[in-house]
Amino acid sequence: MPETITAPACTTFDDWLAVSTDGFAAMNAGRDPAHLVKELVQNALDALGLGGGEIQLNCQAQDGGVRITCRDSGCGMANLADIRTVFHTSKTDSHLQRGRMGRGFKEMLCMALEATVTSGRRRIEFRMEHGRRVTRQVQLPADQATPGTLVEMQMPWDGDVIQHLVKYFQGMLVPDGVHLVVNGQRVCHRLAQDRIEASLPTELLEDGRWIRPIRKTAIELVPVREGEVPMVYELGIPVCPIEWTVGFHANVQQRVPMNPCRDAVASGYLLKLHRACLPTLLPELSEEQVRQDWVGSAAPHCDEAVQQQIIAKGFGQNIARSVPKMGARQFDEDAREIGTMIIDTRQTSGGFRQILQQHVPTTMEVVEEHNRKRVQAAAAGSFDVADVYQAQDDASARRRRLIESVGGKERVEQVMDFARWFCQKLLDGYEGSAVCSVTLAMLKDVGAIATWSSDDVLTLGIDTPWLWTDPFGEESLATLIHEAAHHLNAHHGQDFHKELEKLAGRAARIMLLHGQEVRQRWPGLSGR
Ligand SMILES: Nc1ncnc2c1ncn2[C@@H]1O[C@H](COP(=O)(O)OP(=O)(O)OP(=O)(O)O)[C@@H](O)[C@H]1O
Ligand SMILES: [Mg+2]
Repeated sequence: MPETITAPACTTFDDWLAVSTDGFAAMNAGRDPAHLVKELVQNALDALGLGGGEIQLNCQAQDGGVRITCRDSGCGMANLADIRTVFHTSKTDSHLQRGRMGRGFKEMLCMALEATVTSGRRRIEFRMEHGRRVTRQVQLPADQATPGTLVEMQMPWDGDVIQHLVKYFQGMLVPDGVHLVVNGQRVCHRLAQDRIEASLPTELLEDGRWIRPIRKTAIELVPVREGEVPMVYELGIPVCPIEWTVGFHANVQQRVPMNPCRDAVASGYLLKLHRACLPTLLPELSEEQVRQDWVGSAAPHCDEAVQQQIIAKGFGQNIARSVPKMGARQFDEDAREIGTMIIDTRQTSGGFRQILQQHVPTTMEVVEEHNRKRVQAAAAGSFDVADVYQAQDDASARRRRLIESVGGKERVEQVMDFARWFCQKLLDGYEGSAVCSVTLAMLKDVGAIATWSSDDVLTLGIDTPWLWTDPFGEESLATLIHEAAHHLNAHHGQDFHKELEKLAGRAARIMLLHGQEVRQRWPGLSGR
């Protein structure tokens, strides 16, 4: 007899997909229990909404595992059966609600040994019967109705985890109007020290797609307590360490974009948060804290004014960027000599390097500017001795007084004459050496005693008295030697110092050979 094959009867399913609870559990197996229980508290807070209310969380050792119960006085659940549906969510309308994916409750449920959710007169029970998972929904008598929602779950966790859970939830930043009790202990409200208005990415459902638009929000900076690590909070719930060196938590008042596992923020978010908080935190930071990496990374994205404050606080005011030796010129040494602090940007991290390059001059620029100012001041302010004794204006009167105070016209002219002779003698024998001319100026304002211009004009500061009262003294001769060396090598640094040593030897020789002549030509100058 041929076998008769009967076609299977038609079967219809309610939906396309079904979810394997075991598979879902495997996905969540490695997660921190606090992040799973957090999902229940998050749902409870969302259910309270802006009106506030009460949440009671209990974590107790029971039947060799841990029993978690979370009771809230919120809106309750109209259709309890929906709680089984992975990705079913009622929170698509606002970035001010914590939940969003329709996953949180199920992520914890799939790890549970059994669970019950009660809301109003409805109850849904998740049980293991004969090795199978079953779900049962029951209607309660009116006298057993539960206001809000009560979630109970038996977890296969070690009792040690309870301490960790209590610590985590005691660390919550409870929103206004919410009364949160964890294992019988109320979690106190904590005051924010600062509230920063910022624009940060958040998460929103738009046209059926999750997007991360920028939205205005507030970040509350709440001082950390002893033993706490500074954390990012999403609407009061701790998410992950904020990775900065100041003693504040940052409580963001809107949804925070998360990584796929939802146990840390999305990549790049911390940087944006640091950038938003940096201007407010800057006055609180020590010099050392300002040089920390998180500041360096955030700094290039801050306003120019903030970048300048970061540089001033972290690196100092009178600073320049090191440049390599250029031929015979060593700008770093020259800059150091005029009191500039030198920063080697090769030693700084990327973000700092970027803002230093933007705002801090190189040692070459600093030195050139310094010299330019000095020579300019010398040129602009230089005057002739004979002229000031003829002119009637106030400036000339002031100059005359200065000349008189250092010994009078004749002495000043003698000192200038000697200076010209001495410098020329120093330079004699050098190829292309010039017969310098000597002039006078007031140079104190530019921090100079004397200057030497590129066209070999020696300007002496009439406002440096010892130059005139003791022209053969060590300091005065050293000044002339120093200035003459500029003719040979118009900058400071290593090579300049070699030049100076040579000139010092030459100066000694000049005085040995010409001592007699000097005393005869300028008798009035040697008396001291
Ligand atoms: N305590 C509660 N009170 C009222 N409704 C709740 C409560 N817990 C869960 N719900 C309802 O169940 C839905 C699913 O919750 P679930 O935690 O799985 O996802 P979600 O909160 O929407 O998003 P997320 O995956 O981000 O947690 C919620 O959108 C909400 O409508
Ligand atoms: Mg949720």
